[in-house]
Amino acid sequence: MIESSGAIPVVNAWNEWDTLQEVVVGSATGACFEPTEPGNRPQTRGAGAAPFPTGPKPAEAVDRANEQLAGLAALLTAQGVTVRRPSPHDFSQPVRTPAFEAENQYCAVCPRDVMITLGNEILEATMSRRARYFEYEPYRKLVYEYWDADPRVTWTVAPKPTMADAMYRQDFWEWPLEERHARMHDSEFCVTQDEVVFDAADMSRFGRDILVQESMTTNRAGIRWLKRTLEPKGFRVHPVHFPLDYFPSHIDCTFVPLRPGLVLTNPERPIRETERQMFTDNGWRLVDAPQPVLTNDDMPPYCQSSKWLSMNVLSVSPEKVICEEQEKPLQDLLYSLGFEVLTVPFRDVFEYGGSLHCATWDIRRDSTREDYFPAVSYRPAT
Ligand code: ARG
Repeated sequence: MIESSGAIPVVNAWNEWDTLQEVVVGSATGACFEPTEPGNRPQTRGAGAAPFPTGPKPAEAVDRANEQLAGLAALLTAQGVTVRRPSPHDFSQPVRTPAFEAENQYCAVCPRDVMITLGNEILEATMSRRARYFEYEPYRKLVYEYWDADPRVTWTVAPKPTMADAMYRQDFWEWPLEERHARMHDSEFCVTQDEVVFDAADMSRFGRDILVQESMTTNRAGIRWLKRTLEPKGFRVHPVHFPLDYFPSHIDCTFVPLRPGLVLTNPERPIRETERQMFTDNGWRLVDAPQPVLTNDDMPPYCQSSKWLSMNVLSVSPEKVICEEQEKPLQDLLYSLGFEVLTVPFRDVFEYGGSLHCATWDIRRDSTREDYFPAVSYRPAT
């Protein structure tokens, strides 16, 4: 049974960097290849590559990923962090609702995509892809445990979209690159604006201020829902855009806060000029990450993420960051910025959707709600 009477509620995380006390680390057990669906067109990397596989991932690939996830869990435990794991789930089962059918589900490697702690609240995202519709299930046992343990913990589940054909803009995948460039400021991706849609990993927490990236996995209705839900609780929700990312999904390889006043940024995906101002006006520094060690072509064949998984670091505290073992240039930058850097091998996890930040969900950090942006002009929800 978890302790419920401490000064810090059992669920408590207001930002991405304060001292980590409890975290969920994902698991590759039972993982499947993500199916092709209106919101996702997975592709095997490499010219003339074989079609993207379907069904369960091979046992050896699962074992390799699980070994690296266990390595992360062990490192966190050695740092004094309580590590929890998802419950088993049969991802090979199809998903069938009145509006759609998907041949199989995905995995529980990336709790970050589905679950977010906002202060003392657990929020389950709507999700944007059919195969991930039920991905909250492996985390529900933990949610109940936290919710039962401490009356200060609240739990909100966002409305499930239909994920019917009409919710998606199917021609999005066919647009040539020139068209994407021409339309980069439109923020129109594969999901229409008709229903509330967001993945949790499109959010980033900065005390009372929450950034939400408009993306392939989060639409404007989703951001509106977040504003109206979170503003009465004292948060300010800021939509953000990275126009040069033509396939945006999840903010944690693009804009990664490391401590008050410092964000690690992606040199190939600068934030929209007008949105940058909130940071510069409040004395924050944006520091570009160095080029990753791997090129996009070197990424594992079934990995759908870019080389910028290099930036997907996990903060153990405002002074200590976990970084992928081979990303030396980034490690050197972090040292020069005054961080202690811990490393783990993690490349075998990449094909399951992410790296160190994606594969975790922070439950409790030793943090309070601060205002890091006192000089900000803010427009509440309409
Ligand atoms: N779309 C990002 C990229 O390729 C990957 C984001 C992964 N993040 C996550 N939470 N799963 O750069």
